[in-house]
Amino acid sequence: MQVLGLDVGGTGIKGTIVDVVTGELVTPRWRLHTPPGAEPTAVAATIAQIVQHFSWNGPIGCGFPAVIKGGVAHTAANIAPSWVGMDGATLLREATCSPVLLLNDADAAGIAEMRLGAGRGRSGLVIMITIGTGLGTALFMDGHLVPNTELGHIEIRGKEAEYRASEAVRLRKQISWAAWAKRFNEYLCRLSALLWPDLIILGGGASRSYEKFAAHLTVGVEVVPAMLRNEAGMIGAALAAADAFPQVL
Ligand code: BGC
Repeated sequence: MQVLGLDVGGTGIKGTIVDVVTGELVTPRWRLHTPPGAEPTAVAATIAQIVQHFSWNGPIGCGFPAVIKGGVAHTAANIAPSWVGMDGATLLREATCSPVLLLNDADAAGIAEMRLGAGRGRSGLVIMITIGTGLGTALFMDGHLVPNTELGHIEIRGKEAEYRASEAVRLRKQISWAAWAKRFNEYLCRLSALLWPDLIILGGGASRSYEKFAAHLTVGVEVVPAMLRNEAGMIGAALAAADAFPQVL
């Protein structure tokens, strides 16, 4: 049983065919640049190219950097504002001629980590944070997802957290890992004081460099890097689509 998993990010859109029983990648991932401005029609065209690359004709799961309800995008923090109110699932279905499940990108990554990675078998409150162009969050209570939490936007020192402590900010401002970790640690402490999680899983681009900043994290909660690293988003999107379209598998 295979599904094409896609992950739309601020800089790249990547895809791979996923075995939805084992969560393994069936093909090497294929990545194209996110079109400048990330306008809906341009993003849909890039996704169609990825689908073509894999000669894919079957269900698609797509993680997307916005609040998604019933296939419709409701926010647009790092993408074109014209996404707000748009039925992205229908747009992508028409562009790819395949059934598409659209879901928040951090939720997708969290689903993969909870089923197959660092959150497997963990109960209580687990927060997955993806560190990339923005800060994405996924909240799980006893393994159940509370979708569309947008905790990357809580305010710290008068600024949205993702404007202080995302991977994009670290790269743009060229700050050291230690300086960035201090900011990120402050974010973790604030989140923990508000939600009291039992486990925090860190994913996204920065999870590849976990060793470079782990020592600076002092939050009194267990923190672990994502096991599926930056592939969690594609894998989780595929798993979610397999659940959503059991009849076409
Ligand atoms: C968006 C979230 C998204 C996160 C990671 C934030 O700016 O508001 O919906 O999950 O970035 O891409």
